[in-house]
Amino acid sequence: MSKHEVLEKNIGLLMICMVLAVSIGGLTQIVPLFFQDVTTKPVEGMKPYTALQLEGRDIYIREGCVGCHSQMIRPFRAETERYGHYSVAGESVWDHPFLWGSKRTGPDLARVGGRYSDDWQRAHLYNPRNVVPESKMPAYPWLVQNRLDGKDTANKLKVMRVMGVPYTAEDIAGAGDAVKGKTEMDALVAYLQVLGTAIKNKR
Ligand code: HEC
Repeated sequence: MSKHEVLEKNIGLLMICMVLAVSIGGLTQIVPLFFQDVTTKPVEGMKPYTALQLEGRDIYIREGCVGCHSQMIRPFRAETERYGHYSVAGESVWDHPFLWGSKRTGPDLARVGGRYSDDWQRAHLYNPRNVVPESKMPAYPWLVQNRLDGKDTANKLKVMRVMGVPYTAEDIAGAGDAVKGKTEMDALVAYLQVLGTAIKNKR
């Protein structure tokens, strides 16, 4: 019996060897990503979210926007023609957790920053049908009423710093005051308007 036949006729041994082979194959693809600049360093000129943008991002998470919107433009022509430059890893290094998503009931938002005016964004979030009559996106009218108290904002920045986002002591000290009294709408629009702006938006 050849050595390979031994393997083929012994299901336990075969399974162990398969797991080993798949693991080694997988690791050789995954491990280098942790050490390459292109996947671990922010793109040039990128700035961490401001306190207000970070609060806006939390509202984006709370309201479940990621359930209908991806933030990941794939490197295909149909995507780049519609949304702009494909997403690169360096744009996401400070996103904890990342919000790439996978469901596109609505359009991808990875480069929505600057595509519309602040007023458009506000009107749209208040009631999408006011600006896009055929829209089936839900309305978020409470965002204009709810105000941020800024109590947790400094802590949120601190946690981000632990995870490698380069916030300064000043950023953290001023975070609460920077958002206090602003509406959730202000925060969410601030967040949307910065999305994808670290790379030049060719459309
Ligand atoms: C039930 C699915 C759904 C949810 C949840 C949802 N959207 Fe949408 N969104 C859509 C659809 C569909 C469109 C396209 C029609 C339109 O423009 O309203 C859209 C469009 C948009 C646009 C315009 C994008 C463009 O390029 O024209 C923005 C910005 C947006 N949504 C932001 C949000 C934010 C922020 C949230 C969370 C507060 C959210 N959406 C939640 C479905 C959704």
